[in-house]
Amino acid sequence: MAEKISLSVIKADVGGYVGHSSTHPELISTSEEECEKAKKEGLLIDYHVTNCGDDIALIMTHRKGTDSEEIHRFAWETFEKATEVAKKLKQYGAGQDLLTDAFSGNLKGMGPGYAEVEFEERKSEPVLIFLADKTEPGAWNLPLYKMFADPFNTAGLVIDPSMHDGFNFEVLDMMEHKKVTFSCPEEIYDLLIFIGAPSRYAVKFVYRKSDGETAAATSTQRLSLMAGRYVGKDDPVMIVRCQSGLPAVGEALEPFTFPHTVAGFMRGSHHGPLMPVSLKDATPSRFDGPPRVVCLGFQLGEGMLIGPRDMFADVSFNRARSMANMISDYLRRHGPFEPHRLPLEEMEYTTMPQVMEKLKGRFVSE
Ligand code: 13P
Ligand code: 13P
Ligand code: MG
Ligand code: MG
Repeated sequence: MAEKISLSVIKADVGGYVGHSSTHPELISTSEEECEKAKKEGLLIDYHVTNCGDDIALIMTHRKGTDSEEIHRFAWETFEKATEVAKKLKQYGAGQDLLTDAFSGNLKGMGPGYAEVEFEERKSEPVLIFLADKTEPGAWNLPLYKMFADPFNTAGLVIDPSMHDGFNFEVLDMMEHKKVTFSCPEEIYDLLIFIGAPSRYAVKFVYRKSDGETAAATSTQRLSLMAGRYVGKDDPVMIVRCQSGLPAVGEALEPFTFPHTVAGFMRGSHHGPLMPVSLKDATPSRFDGPPRVVCLGFQLGEGMLIGPRDMFADVSFNRARSMANMISDYLRRHGPFEPHRLPLEEMEYTTMPQVMEKLKGRFVSE
């Protein structure tokens, strides 16, 4: 049996340029230098470093498996080096996502987000890496549902016999730290009860039912729940493997023609449409948004990342972009009112508790 390949996408916001709108090129080149060293030393097979807004993503292939201490430590130390550069250049919120002082064992609960899969590379292995800015992990719920459970999106669920059995969705309760698996299509109604509440429940993995093959993985950390205060949005990443018994590339991209409403945008406290953009347009500026998603396509070849292709640069996503701009106009006019502003429970992690504390003596019984 061929040795398995691991694909890790690990991200962090270690400083914004300018404000929270993008990443300074020196932070990218510093991260690339670290990755190049790790490739020469044999830790990585290959890598690609990029950013979506103010979040740096390290896309890495290796043979260390998922949740590898070595890989996680390498990513942490790379983000520390990039933070030093960010501090030198006085970038905004330098070191924002590094919530603890020192690395210990695994990135879980430490701030950086990660999505990882381990698999035997197929004869042809097309993978899509999605990166988002100004939103949270639950933003992937709706597109993942469409890709892997909705035959109106994914023709292969009907046409391709190897997809016919359906997929298992592993869903995380990000507040209680519990997970549950739903077998689809039989349990789609049960699944939707939970993943329709993306602030709390997020799809972590999707597995093909016929053989257990991992089809998709997401990052699911929620910074505010870890830190107990507002520290910027989680800005999640996602890996989707495609073709040959998995959704075709076009089926995995199709859900993003609908710029669905997600939480994030200005100060992480507003709803807005998730706009699919090319890498050059991954610069959320208007009201620090609207939230963005980019997609990098790779063909893996013996673990080498052949690519990327900038998948949302395609003109067929123009309408989704213009719809997202229109929805932004509409939502923005609500100003500080819900449903543009997030509901009260979510405001708990902002200055809301301080305002309540200040005014508490003024609330009298009516
Ligand atoms: P090709 O016939 O071009 O390989 O396309 C097959 C397919 O899956 C398109 O979605
Ligand atoms: P980020 O989570 O991308 O750092 O954005 C934070 C913010 O406050 C935007 O207004
Ligand atoms: Mg930021
Ligand atoms: Mg960000």
